Amino acid sequence: TQQVAVKRPELHFTAKKNWINDPNGLFFDGKQYHLYFQHNPHGVGHGYMSWGHAVSTDLVNWEELPIAILHGDVADIFSGSIVVDHENTTGFGDGTIAPVIAIYTAAAKDETNQSQAIAYSVDGGATFTKYENNPVLDRGSKDFRDPKVIRYESAEGSYWVMVAVEAIERRVLFYRSENLKDWTELSSFGPQAAVAGIWECPDLFQLPVAGTDELKWVLVVSLNPGGVASGSGTQYFVGEFDGTTFTPEQVRPGWESFEYKDLKQGDWLDWGRDFYAGVSFHGLPVDQQTLIAWMSNWDYARQLPHDGWRGSMSAARHLDLVKNNDGKFEIRQRILGLPAAQESGTPAPTGDTRIELGCPALIELSVVERSSDPTVLSFYRSDNSLISELTIDSEKIQHRRETGKVDHELYASNQHMPLPTNIGKLGVQVLVDHGSIEILAADGRRSLTDQLTGEDSPAYASLHVASGTSISFTVQQLSDNALEI
Ligand code: FRU
Repeated sequence: TQQVAVKRPELHFTAKKNWINDPNGLFFDGKQYHLYFQHNPHGVGHGYMSWGHAVSTDLVNWEELPIAILHGDVADIFSGSIVVDHENTTGFGDGTIAPVIAIYTAAAKDETNQSQAIAYSVDGGATFTKYENNPVLDRGSKDFRDPKVIRYESAEGSYWVMVAVEAIERRVLFYRSENLKDWTELSSFGPQAAVAGIWECPDLFQLPVAGTDELKWVLVVSLNPGGVASGSGTQYFVGEFDGTTFTPEQVRPGWESFEYKDLKQGDWLDWGRDFYAGVSFHGLPVDQQTLIAWMSNWDYARQLPHDGWRGSMSAARHLDLVKNNDGKFEIRQRILGLPAAQESGTPAPTGDTRIELGCPALIELSVVERSSDPTVLSFYRSDNSLISELTIDSEKIQHRRETGKVDHELYASNQHMPLPTNIGKLGVQVLVDHGSIEILAADGRRSLTDQLTGEDSPAYASLHVASGTSISFTVQQLSDNALEI
């Protein structure tokens, strides 16, 4: 693909130059958020994988720092996680500052082996030293990767738990360690649910259930292809983790081998094309669980137009759980860093209303009464060409994007997101930045993220309201100095 002028997002992380994919090693150090990421220091394609590094105090404005962990001659540095070793269980600490430990996949360049390795930092995560006795966990597998480590706390004591995938077997493996160097296998989960692709980038964390004192465990599994919007997608399981085994709670008949026939029955973190490899931050309390995903899809990520840099991260999302009337738990997301909703919206008349837009912008719709005719929000460039169209009816939200300036057969697409039933008034939040749209609906219980990459950003939108529908909207232009956390 040739180089074209691509506008940089203002509210999403991009690297100054070259390729990025998955977020890695997200952690909060008490003052700053750290974002490491899969990065090719040498070009705009996937290769020479290393961990880039950026920091932020507000999860919106990021400062890129030097590469944290550089690829080697025989192995690349694939995805993984970071923990702060407050108790110096590794012995890497020098007694002054808690060592920051990266746990990553050493991926042999000749594709014969993937094993887990560690590197330590005694300067708060800026520079890392690879452990001399790497790897720390080798199953002799070619597709064992993406270790996410958490501190598991229980009455009997605390220890490290790693989740990592045997990607092709569609299995998440659970391991335990006292020192991050010696690992014992605990259990295995899968294959089940959505399995029409390989499993990647697992995550395991607790979330509070809104309005209760209850906590539930959540296992996140990215898969590619086979996602709900095709290509890369992210599913999750709500259940219990007892320190050894994860058991999903939304039990379906024969869940141990359950496989979706209809992907729309599944629990998806996102229903769009571009939300993959999402993982949570280490170092935040359970009521502040925050996740960032790579905003792309392996279907076309390598072929998208670029301007010397390629790839971006999603907005940071706060996560918790809600319990539905039928007793089923669902993840709810809230985009962090947005201004508060405005007091009252503008009622939209029946027919078409033109909405002038700067970019980035936040559009909030409140659909009070829905008729059987859909509400449509269309985005246009200044030359009046259509970029994409959002359609809201009583059962679902669709986002259809045009090919635009992207020359790839899989890019133009139409994503469907079923809405929860019995919700009454429907709130829809639409965050538009250069190159992307993030749609959160029904109090954050539904999320749909799509890239809108290319040279132009929307100049205006048109809101179509059918008779019998009652709707109000607000539009806020967002420049980053207007943002609060
Ligand atoms: C997911 C992934 C991971 C791997 C990394 C390599 O997008 O394929 O499984 O560790 O990207 O860059």
